[in-house]
Amino acid sequence: MALSSNTQGFILLLAAASLLAVSEGRTIVVGGSEGWRFGFNYTDWALKNNPFYINDELVFKYDPPSEGNSGYSVYQQPNLWSYITCGFSKAKLLASPTQGGGDGFKVALTQWRPYYFASGENDGKNCKDGMMKFFAIPLPRWNN
Ligand SMILES: *[C@@H]1O[C@H](CO)[C@@H](O)[C@H](O)[C@H]1NC(C)=O
Repeated sequence: MALSSNTQGFILLLAAASLLAVSEGRTIVVGGSEGWRFGFNYTDWALKNNPFYINDELVFKYDPPSEGNSGYSVYQQPNLWSYITCGFSKAKLLASPTQGGGDGFKVALTQWRPYYFASGENDGKNCKDGMMKFFAIPLPRWNN
């Protein structure tokens, strides 16, 4: 049975619409009203905010360094081991201590893979003692 060209056009339209739906993402502030700071449990926050979806955008909001506070940053770690051990030698700096002001630093989760985030300041203490790390594995989103 051959489909009429009208039907084919309609199917194409549906396919295009579903692609659009896939590309829609949310904007999520990391830590909610707490923002990105020392001592807040981001593992717990990430668990409670799961699942994340592809093309969601995470926003890191944090204070700049001040007297007695070396500030915070956003690193992306390459693997689970670096994440667990709070290792930064192979981590990629995404946002410096001064980039968390205003509307915050935004990072889009564009791929279906684990994203490991951590703050690298204060000789790793932000990550080790301050719980400033979490990971997200964004899922494909097929509808709203
Ligand atoms: C942070 O939250 C996770 C998940 O709820 C929990 O397993 C962990 O014990 C918490 N860490 C601390 C130091 O409270």
